[in-house]
Amino acid sequence: MSSKTWKAVDDYIVSSLFEADPVLEAVLATNRDQGLPAIDVSAAQGKLLSLLVRIRGAKNVLEVGTLGGYSTIWMARGLPADGKVVTLELDPHHARVARSNFERAGVSDKVELRVGPALQSLAALASDNAGPFDLTFIDADKPNNPNYLSWAMKLARSGTVIVCDNVIRDGAVLDKDGRDANVEGARAAFSFIGGDKRLDGTAIQTVGAKGYDGFTIAIVE
Ligand SMILES: C[S@@+](CC[C@H](N)C(=O)[O-])C[C@H]1O[C@@H](n2cnc3c(N)ncnc32)[C@H](O)[C@@H]1O
Repeated sequence: MSSKTWKAVDDYIVSSLFEADPVLEAVLATNRDQGLPAIDVSAAQGKLLSLLVRIRGAKNVLEVGTLGGYSTIWMARGLPADGKVVTLELDPHHARVARSNFERAGVSDKVELRVGPALQSLAALASDNAGPFDLTFIDADKPNNPNYLSWAMKLARSGTVIVCDNVIRDGAVLDKDGRDANVEGARAAFSFIGGDKRLDGTAIQTVGAKGYDGFTIAIVE
């Protein structure tokens, strides 16, 4: 089984189950043109995030790591009319591109983008009494996963769903040697979720257009 097959199956999933989506295609093209790395979630994962927002009945969503806003748009689309996504991004260029993508996708009124180091933005959200969030998606600098999970818990309520992306890393999550900070971040997410009695979670391995990876998903008791 090759990555070529994984990509072809992802294409099959999208062509079989999704309407043609010129807006999201244009978003990805803009990201490419603006020099953003192609590290957004896949279309199938984006749709899963949108479905999770709907399944949870989420009105307040928090995202750590915006990039060009591809996953933000998927989640915003799952929200009710009065719902909102707060998304946090360090890089001002990524944030500028994301804002233009939110305009294009018609979701600007549902998205609040805060620019700066996410740890500072999260502290500011807490002092603004933002939240509780119904769903939090963590997808930024991986070494900070435990810090983001800790903030996600502070900004949560019973029933909040927390998803943390890229925790399998081609299976490197099994490496205990501590040589790769991103792998350490992935392992730290497992330790955090496994070690916090308020969280009930699992992890799903994924293959597809973005290779072999996976995500954790947990609910706050
Ligand atoms: C994997 S990308 C996010 C992809 C996006 N969630 C999507 O699927 O479309 C990670 C993003 O996190 C941002 N980032 C990295 N370190 C950060 C930090 N300390 N605070 C906030 N954002 C950060 C990066 O600039 C990058 O845009």
